[in-house]
Amino acid sequence: MGKLAMTLILLCSMVMVLPAVHGIVKGPKAVEEWFQKLSHKKEKLTKLCFYFHDTLSGKTPTAVRVAQANTTSISPTLFGVIYMMDDPLTARPEPNSTIVGRAQGLYGSAGMEDLGLLMTMNLVFTAGKFNGSSLSVLGRNPALEQYREMPVVGGSGVFRLSRGIATAKTHWFDYTTGDAIVEYQVLVIHY
Ligand SMILES: *[C@@H]1O[C@H](CO)[C@@H](O)[C@H](O)[C@H]1NC(C)=O
Ligand SMILES: *[C@@H]1O[C@H](CO)[C@@H](O)[C@H](O)[C@H]1NC(C)=O
Ligand SMILES: *[C@@H]1O[C@H](CO)[C@@H](O)[C@H](O)[C@H]1NC(C)=O
Repeated sequence: MGKLAMTLILLCSMVMVLPAVHGIVKGPKAVEEWFQKLSHKKEKLTKLCFYFHDTLSGKTPTAVRVAQANTTSISPTLFGVIYMMDDPLTARPEPNSTIVGRAQGLYGSAGMEDLGLLMTMNLVFTAGKFNGSSLSVLGRNPALEQYREMPVVGGSGVFRLSRGIATAKTHWFDYTTGDAIVEYQVLVIHY
């Protein structure tokens, strides 16, 4: 493992409004060339900040219940329920602020006694220099706690072979509908 060059290349709130500076070449040949040059590359630390809008209510929910156990409805934590989401990610907390990506994946209630969601999602960026790149998150989200840490286990494009930590904090929650706006701060090491 090489030494991590601690270059914090971008500041949080600015992250997504920067114009595209370089495209990532795709395809098996390009990936192989990328690997061959890896030993000359320095690790970078990038910080991303955005807001995740999980909407269960209304005519166009972005998270839908796809499965549950026959005991889910009698469980205090809704143990066994699974949602599929395609949630917009925005630069600011307001739902009408600039969309910078989508969180696509599944979350389910995996704790019988305490609320602990299993999150398996891809953060798919659609704006700025990370447009076309994604990060994969796999972790436990005890959604009622103030801060929830989830591992970033990899990525694509700019984020090939990345790893990091996503920290989630609820910004707004509607107890009636279950709709939520969650602040995400993600620190990733990549090349
Ligand atoms: C759930 O399904 C199982 C298997 O079919 C059954 O044995 C059990 O009684 C059901 N539980 C409830 C709460 O309906
Ligand atoms: C976004 O919504 C807020 C109210 O929630 C409004 O004040 C603001 O003007 C809207 N911005 C845009 C760009 O539509
Ligand atoms: C993101 O990339 C796609 C495909 O290259 C392009 O069509 C789109 O305009 C880009 N979006 C932004 C906001 O730059």
